[in-house]
Amino acid sequence: MIFILLFTTSIFANELTGEKVFKTYCWGCHHQTAMAFGPPFNEIANKRTKAEIEAYIASPKSMYEAFGYKRTVMTQLHLSAKELDLISDYILSFKGKK
Ligand code: HEC
Repeated sequence: MIFILLFTTSIFANELTGEKVFKTYCWGCHHQTAMAFGPPFNEIANKRTKAEIEAYIASPKSMYEAFGYKRTVMTQLHLSAKELDLISDYILSFKGKK
Protein backbone atom coordinates (compact mmCIF):
# COMPACT_ATOMS: atom_id res chain seq x y z
CA MET A 1 0.00 0.00 0.00
CA ILE A 2 2.74 2.43 0.95
CA PHE A 3 4.62 1.38 -2.13
CA ILE A 4 1.63 2.22 -4.33
CA LEU A 5 1.25 5.60 -2.68
CA LEU A 6 4.91 6.48 -3.17
CA PHE A 7 4.74 5.31 -6.74
CA THR A 8 1.72 7.43 -7.65
CA THR A 9 3.13 10.50 -5.87
CA SER A 10 6.29 10.25 -7.91
CA ILE A 11 4.29 10.02 -11.13
CA PHE A 12 2.46 13.20 -10.20
CA ALA A 13 5.71 14.89 -9.20
CA ASN A 14 7.05 14.32 -12.71
CA GLU A 15 3.94 15.45 -14.48
CA LEU A 16 4.32 18.66 -16.46
CA THR A 17 2.17 21.52 -15.13
CA GLY A 18 1.63 25.15 -16.07
CA GLU A 19 3.38 26.16 -12.88
CA LYS A 20 6.48 24.20 -13.88
CA VAL A 21 6.54 25.80 -17.32
CA PHE A 22 6.21 29.18 -15.60
CA LYS A 23 9.08 28.51 -13.22
CA THR A 24 11.29 27.13 -15.98
CA TYR A 25 10.79 29.80 -18.63
CA CYS A 26 8.94 32.89 -17.41
CA TRP A 27 9.67 33.53 -13.76
CA GLY A 28 12.72 35.71 -14.37
CA CYS A 29 10.60 38.26 -16.23
CA HIS A 30 6.97 37.69 -15.16
CA HIS A 31 5.41 37.24 -11.75
CA GLN A 32 1.87 36.07 -11.09
CA THR A 33 0.36 39.23 -9.64
CA ALA A 34 3.21 41.74 -9.41
CA MET A 35 4.83 43.79 -12.13
CA ALA A 36 8.28 42.47 -13.00
CA PHE A 37 10.25 43.07 -16.18
CA GLY A 38 7.13 41.96 -18.08
CA PRO A 39 3.46 42.44 -17.10
CA PRO A 40 1.93 40.27 -14.33
CA PHE A 41 -0.21 37.24 -15.24
CA ASN A 42 -3.38 38.58 -13.60
CA GLU A 43 -3.20 41.68 -15.81
CA ILE A 44 -2.61 39.58 -18.94
CA ALA A 45 -5.49 37.24 -17.99
CA ASN A 46 -7.88 40.16 -17.61
CA LYS A 47 -7.34 41.46 -21.14
CA ARG A 48 -6.32 38.56 -23.39
CA THR A 49 -7.86 35.35 -24.70
CA LYS A 50 -6.19 31.97 -24.57
CA ALA A 51 -5.46 32.11 -28.31
CA GLU A 52 -3.86 35.55 -27.98
CA ILE A 53 -1.67 34.45 -25.09
CA GLU A 54 -0.47 31.35 -26.93
CA ALA A 55 0.25 33.37 -30.07
CA TYR A 56 2.28 35.93 -28.12
CA ILE A 57 4.42 33.32 -26.42
CA ALA A 58 4.92 31.43 -29.68
CA SER A 59 6.10 34.57 -31.44
CA PRO A 60 6.45 37.89 -29.57
CA LYS A 61 8.00 39.44 -32.68
CA SER A 62 4.93 38.93 -34.82
CA MET A 63 2.43 39.85 -32.07
CA TYR A 64 3.82 42.82 -30.18
CA GLU A 65 2.36 45.53 -32.44
CA ALA A 66 -1.12 43.99 -32.28
CA PHE A 67 -0.77 43.96 -28.48
CA GLY A 68 0.06 47.68 -28.44
CA TYR A 69 3.79 47.52 -27.73
CA LYS A 70 6.29 49.70 -29.59
CA ARG A 71 8.97 47.05 -29.37
CA THR A 72 9.48 43.64 -27.80
CA VAL A 73 12.23 42.51 -25.50
CA MET A 74 10.60 39.21 -24.57
CA THR A 75 12.74 36.18 -25.35
CA GLN A 76 11.68 34.02 -28.28
CA LEU A 77 10.95 30.70 -26.58
CA HIS A 78 10.36 27.39 -28.25
CA LEU A 79 7.64 25.69 -26.26
CA SER A 80 5.79 22.55 -27.30
CA ALA A 81 2.04 22.72 -27.98
CA LYS A 82 1.48 21.01 -24.64
CA GLU A 83 3.61 23.57 -22.77
CA LEU A 84 1.79 26.43 -24.53
CA ASP A 85 -1.55 24.96 -23.55
CA LEU A 86 -0.51 24.51 -19.91
CA ILE A 87 1.09 27.91 -19.50
CA SER A 88 -1.82 29.79 -21.11
CA ASP A 89 -4.27 28.02 -18.76
CA TYR A 90 -1.96 28.86 -15.86
CA ILE A 91 -1.94 32.55 -16.84
CA LEU A 92 -5.74 32.57 -17.21
CA SER A 93 -6.10 31.05 -13.74
CA PHE A 94 -5.01 34.46 -12.37
CA LYS A 95 -7.94 36.26 -13.98
CA GLY A 96 -9.55 38.58 -11.42
CA LYS A 97 -6.86 37.91 -8.80
CA LYS A 98 -5.10 40.76 -7.05
C1 HEC B 1 13.41 38.15 -21.05
C2 HEC B 1 12.22 38.36 -20.25
C3 HEC B 1 10.95 37.59 -20.57
C4 HEC B 1 10.74 36.24 -20.56
C5 HEC B 1 11.76 35.14 -20.30
C6 HEC B 1 9.33 36.05 -20.83
N1 HEC B 1 8.71 37.25 -21.03
FE1 HEC B 1 6.77 37.54 -21.55
N2 HEC B 1 7.11 39.52 -21.76
C7 HEC B 1 8.27 40.17 -21.38
C8 HEC B 1 8.12 41.61 -21.62
C9 HEC B 1 9.16 42.68 -21.30
C10 HEC B 1 6.82 41.79 -22.17
C11 HEC B 1 6.20 43.11 -22.66
C12 HEC B 1 6.16 43.20 -24.18
C13 HEC B 1 7.41 42.73 -24.85
O1 HEC B 1 8.52 43.27 -24.59
O2 HEC B 1 7.32 41.77 -25.64
C14 HEC B 1 6.22 40.45 -22.24
C15 HEC B 1 4.93 40.20 -22.71
C16 HEC B 1 4.28 38.98 -22.58
C17 HEC B 1 2.90 38.74 -22.95
C18 HEC B 1 1.92 39.75 -23.57
C19 HEC B 1 1.44 40.66 -22.47
C20 HEC B 1 0.16 41.38 -22.82
O3 HEC B 1 0.21 42.60 -23.06
O4 HEC B 1 -0.89 40.73 -22.84
C21 HEC B 1 2.63 37.44 -22.62
C22 HEC B 1 1.31 36.71 -22.82
C23 HEC B 1 3.84 36.88 -22.06
N3 HEC B 1 4.83 37.84 -22.06
C24 HEC B 1 3.96 35.61 -21.59
C25 HEC B 1 5.18 35.02 -21.23
C26 HEC B 1 5.30 33.63 -20.83
C27 HEC B 1 4.15 32.68 -20.64
C28 HEC B 1 6.63 33.38 -20.64
C29 HEC B 1 7.29 32.05 -20.29
C30 HEC B 1 6.87 30.90 -21.09
C31 HEC B 1 7.33 34.62 -20.91
N4 HEC B 1 6.42 35.59 -21.26
C32 HEC B 1 8.71 34.81 -20.83
C33 HEC B 1 9.41 39.59 -20.91
C34 HEC B 1 9.65 38.22 -20.86
